[in-house]
Amino acid sequence: MKIVIPGGTGSLGRLLAKSDLFREHDLVVLSRGGRRSNQVRMVPWDGQTLGEWAREMDGADIVINLSGQSVKCLYTDKNLKTLKDSRVKSTQVIGQAIRQAKKPPTLWIQMSSTAIYTHRFDAPNDEESGQIGESPNIPVVWKHIVQLVKDWEEALYSSQTDHTRKIAIRSGVVMDLTPGGAFDIFLKLSRFGLGGNIAGGKQMVSWIHKSDFINAIHFLIQNNTITGPVNMCSPYPVSQGEFMKTLRKTVGAKWGLPATKWMIELSSYFIGIDSELSLKSRYVIPKVLMDKQYSFLFPEWSSAAKDLYAQWKVKKDHDSHKNT
Ligand SMILES: NC(=O)c1ccc[n+]([C@@H]2O[C@H](COP(=O)([O-])OP(=O)(O)OC[C@H]3O[C@@H](n4cnc5c(N)ncnc54)[C@H](OP(=O)(O)O)[C@@H]3O)[C@@H](O)[C@H]2O)c1
Repeated sequence: MKIVIPGGTGSLGRLLAKSDLFREHDLVVLSRGGRRSNQVRMVPWDGQTLGEWAREMDGADIVINLSGQSVKCLYTDKNLKTLKDSRVKSTQVIGQAIRQAKKPPTLWIQMSSTAIYTHRFDAPNDEESGQIGESPNIPVVWKHIVQLVKDWEEALYSSQTDHTRKIAIRSGVVMDLTPGGAFDIFLKLSRFGLGGNIAGGKQMVSWIHKSDFINAIHFLIQNNTITGPVNMCSPYPVSQGEFMKTLRKTVGAKWGLPATKWMIELSSYFIGIDSELSLKSRYVIPKVLMDKQYSFLFPEWSSAAKDLYAQWKVKKDHDSHKNT
């Protein structure tokens, strides 16, 4: 199969490209930077306008759009605009390229986010009955993020691509071993005694193990009855307090310093990552995947954390042998 991956140079693109399920295919990555890769063919694009790259859509089987400016920033007006433009414009121009292709891809998988759902603690959001949008008393900047994700999905659905099945993946945080990625940050916090409750620790964390992320995408490709939004996260989200407690236990950390809301807001400002990412309750379950009987390798955070930590230790040993 020929699979075109706009934005495939990032952490999720690299994860897919080196996985057993995807590396045998003809992978074409659209990148603004022209980075080189041995695993995939790189094609330049600007993420905004049609160009030579659009020919890659003709005859491709699948498009998996991963492009978007990293959310690891402060949500200032300027950054919010960049976050939104990089997602909405890239999605719109992919739609145009698919529309003009003589032989368009049969499937377009578009990244989206669990941030589309309301900040809630009472019940999980699924694709059918979940509450989309704003909830009362949330910071204005959180409302902007909800609107951004709504616009992102709208760019997918409003593209006139009649022969292409469309799926919007509302993904929870993908737990992989990328340095500087979510698991790496949580692990460091735990090992250094900083992984305690944040603002009371009741906000829910929707997460997915990297292997389930890959397998679930493969599952979506194979199940051609699935269209529309798909929540991509474990069936068992946990509270932030529980999440860190489990990780501390896994790594053998005796305690984790708790942090109040204002401490998180202040430190977020200094490290340049918005506090929305740690304070908003993302209470989400993957109804579509469960109804279609996708079998999770790591449904529970305790087993996922153990596996990731074991892999992290092997990688660390391997890296230190390489450097000696
Ligand atoms: N990782 C997660 O846990 C997670 C969870 C939910 C949703 N998502 C979403 O899934 C997508 C992929 O995630 P990721 O972790 O792989 O992200 P990533 O590591 O930040 O990679 C995204 C890629 O998007 C491209 N990009 C950056 N700025 C762009 C812009 N202004 N215009 C067009 N393309 C741009 C970059 O490729 P080039 O520089 O090569 O062009 C970059 O490598 C993102 O949209 C992210 O928000 C990720």
